[in-house]
Amino acid sequence: MCTQQVILDSTLRSSRTLEFEEALRAKIVSQEEALQAMVDLYQVFSAGLNPPGRPVGSLLFLGPTGCGKTRVVEAAAEILFGDSQAVIKVNCGEFQHSHEISKLIGSPPGYLGHRETHPMITQEALAASHTDKLKLSFLLFDEIEKANDALWQLLLGMLDKATLTLGDNRRVDLSQTVIFMTSNLGSAEITELMQGGMGFVQPKDKPTTGLDEKVERTAVEAARRTFSPEFMNRLDKLVVFHSLSPEQLEKVLQIELNQVQRRVLETDKRRFLFHVTDAGRQFILQEGTDRRYGARHLKRAIDRHVISPLANLLATEQVKMGDTLCIDWDTRVGRLVFWKESPEAAAVLNVSKRTPSQLQVVGTAGGRSTEIPSPARARGVGNNK
Ligand SMILES: Nc1ncnc2c1ncn2[C@@H]1O[C@H](COP(=O)(O)OP(=O)(O)O)[C@@H](O)[C@H]1O
Ligand SMILES: [Mg+2]
Repeated sequence: MCTQQVILDSTLRSSRTLEFEEALRAKIVSQEEALQAMVDLYQVFSAGLNPPGRPVGSLLFLGPTGCGKTRVVEAAAEILFGDSQAVIKVNCGEFQHSHEISKLIGSPPGYLGHRETHPMITQEALAASHTDKLKLSFLLFDEIEKANDALWQLLLGMLDKATLTLGDNRRVDLSQTVIFMTSNLGSAEITELMQGGMGFVQPKDKPTTGLDEKVERTAVEAARRTFSPEFMNRLDKLVVFHSLSPEQLEKVLQIELNQVQRRVLETDKRRFLFHVTDAGRQFILQEGTDRRYGARHLKRAIDRHVISPLANLLATEQVKMGDTLCIDWDTRVGRLVFWKESPEAAAVLNVSKRTPSQLQVVGTAGGRSTEIPSPARARGVGNNK
């Protein structure tokens, strides 16, 4: 008989789980439900309470394009395995025909080309992410609504028994694996609900109360309409992602720009600092985000408008170690311009096709240009939020 009772706190997380949560929050903007699902999963796995004979978890991520479904999985891999690419990623769109399934599981012995087809999902490939402390693997089926029947059958088997039989009859054990699936189903309706069909902003006359529930219901209903009950019943969790607001997209941009800065600082060449003005950031956001594709094209816009000009500046030695660059939008030239900030002088680094000798060096006041008019500059340059 228990004589003394001690009330335990079952909501308390381990410090390792809290660290994981914090790291994930630093990489992912919003999507609270997804973050919680990942953190719960990690805690259950760390405690060894995941169900035996089944995958560690099976999560279906629903929601509009470019709102972080794939990114959440990559970010978790980055944190747990030290590499965002330590995920076996199956783009279901590439498996539209049944015969393509051999790319995943290899073909039976005796088939023409049997030796040449290296299956994607093997025990070795899954073990590649294992570390001394963590024997866990991530398997991601992206955009499952595009999968063909053969792939569905495979997926159902994996979810049910946590095993996969390869073409040559080898068995792959998935009991240390989390199976993630993403789908954009219901995405058009969700975008409509979130934005009232009028761009990013929620119109004032549209009541926002219950919006989250509506979005969730829409996504789940779309999934139930499309996917079989057999499949839906095998999932541990269904997580609905929401479209990102302009403020949230700005935060995503800041995370991406911080990553670029980190890359610059990690180069053993000329390490320098840069910051982007408000107007510069608005330009990149305009180029890299939109209603239909969320933040999907943001990286491309950063590559084009920030990384490649920076690479030019480095390659032509216009930037020195320890320099600070300011990246601004200049309405006059209709593109981003790169300023070198220094106590004495600043150079306008127009990175198009000019040679260093053609650079226009302008006078500055307090390290800031005073000669080239730019409405953007008037709004201030501080952006290290
Ligand atoms: N919520 C978010 N937090 C952080 N980055 C995000 C978020 N949503 C989108 N991104 C950025 O946009 C890119 C595309 O997002 P992704 O996860 O591939 O979209 P999808 O939801 O279509 O899978 C990511 O690589 C990431 O850079
Ligand atoms: Mg995706």
